[in-house]
Formats: sequence, C-alpha cells, structure tokens
Amino acid sequence: MAKIIDGKAISKQIKDELKEKASELKANGISVTLAVIQVGNNPASTVYVNNKKKGCEYIGIGSLSYELPEETEEEELLNLINELNGRKDVNGILVQLPLPAHIDEDKVIKAIDPKKDVDGFHPQSVGALCIGQPGFVSCTPAGIIQLLKRSGIELAGKECVVLGRSNIVGKPMSLLMLRENATVTIAHSKTADLKEVTKRADILIVAIGRPKMVTRDYVKEGAVVIDVGINRNEDGKLCGDVDFDDVAPVSSAITPVPGGVGPMTIAMLLNNCLESVNLQ
Ligand code: GUN
Repeated sequence: MAKIIDGKAISKQIKDELKEKASELKANGISVTLAVIQVGNNPASTVYVNNKKKGCEYIGIGSLSYELPEETEEEELLNLINELNGRKDVNGILVQLPLPAHIDEDKVIKAIDPKKDVDGFHPQSVGALCIGQPGFVSCTPAGIIQLLKRSGIELAGKECVVLGRSNIVGKPMSLLMLRENATVTIAHSKTADLKEVTKRADILIVAIGRPKMVTRDYVKEGAVVIDVGINRNEDGKLCGDVDFDDVAPVSSAITPVPGGVGPMTIAMLLNNCLESVNLQ
C-alpha cells in the first residue's frame, strides 16, 4: 500500500519554520506585509483569501485586505495595484483569481511590480524561472517540490510526467522539475495515447481539472502520484483529478484530496512573502 503524503503536516512544518524566520526579521526591525485583493464574492475565492490572511497571522506577518465589489472597473483595480506598488510598507501583492469577466486578467497580472509578485504569475517571474534567474515561483508547483523533497523522494534522473499545461501549475511545474534534473514530459488533453505516456512516469503530477480522471491504468506500478485537482463530486464532497481508492494500491506514494497539495500553496505563498524582503 502506498505511503500517503501528508500535505497538512508538511505545510505546518514549513509554516513553523517561517514563523521563526519572521520573528528574526522582526527582531532586526524588518516587518513584512502582504496585500490581498479580491474582486467580487466568488465563495471559493473567499475561502482561499481568508486562509491566506490566517496564514499571515499564523507566521506573524501583516496583511492588508481589499474586498472590491464585482462591478469594480478595471482601471480602479489597476490604480489600486499601482498605489500598492509604490508603498514601502507593502512587500507582496496578491490579486485572487479568477477576476470578473470584464477585467483583463493578463493586464492585471502585468501591473503588479515583479518585486512584489508573490504569486509568481508576472511574465518576468515566469521568464526568470525559465532561464534560472532569481524571482518568485508559482506557489502550487513550488509546494509540490517541497512535498517531494520532504518525503524523501529524489527527482534527479527520474521520469516525470506532468498532466496539464496551465500557466499556474503545469508549465511552472515542468520547469521546476527540470531544474531538479528530472526528465520531464508535459502531457495534456490532446496527447495521443495518453495512458502510454503517463505510464512512463516515476513521478506523475496530475493537474488536468477533471474529477477522478486518472485511474490505475494511467499509472506505472510503484509510481509517485501527486494530485493537484480540487473538484466537488455529485455529493458536494471534495475530490481530486486522481481516483484515489483505485490508484493508491498500485502507487508507492500518493497525495490525498483534501490534505495533500492544497495546504502547500499557502505555505509557499508565505515563504514568497518573506523572500520578497531579499528582492526588495
Ligand atoms: N486562484 C486559484 N489559485 C490561485 C492562486 O494561487 N493565486 C491567486 N492569486 N489566485 C488563485
């Protein structure tokens, strides 16, 4: 039976390390503040944003909260970002996605000063990751690297397959694994003979956004399986993109949903907030 990778426990360990780091910074007269912007009231976004603010409180850094109405004009949001870019007392700026349809997400992401881009979504941050220069790394993929490393799973020389090619997870995930000297394949919904490709993986990262799509016939015996999906099934219960009960018996290690990758995203966001001090 597979080892269950406990994201909740590992994220707690990281947050406790960050708490210590934050208190050292404070002792040296450096305070850190994250500005969190939410436009509209998407219920899932509200949960995420509240958890991010709670995370700041837990490690002992400040957070500023901007809750803007759904009908906020794009220009108004851009003006707020501009103001926060200029504030010396604000280290990180996070705009919760998705944004309402009338606001251009790309334009908003580009408006954030790359030195404050704690989500790592700015084209400059993504470019820096691509060519191995310092910059913020997208939190979910960075969290997955920590999950693997802290579970004693070696990446160098391994066959890694990333299922999904989003800008937030799939693409940065593949770059991070490459940085760790893995052999990386990106597979996606249009990949021919998908099962043949995913079955090559020693480490399979699933971020395809389809509930329980990955069953044991996609997985090599003894593979490590990381499930990035967060979906709700017919009963409203959370489930991943991996059929956990079917896949767990054939894998060597697997993340559950909830309690796997999810908690790591916030831990890495908080890590980026403390890192921002070095970039600024
Ligand atoms: N929406 C879903 N995940 C994320 C994230 O990591 N950051 C932001 N800003 N929005 C999100």
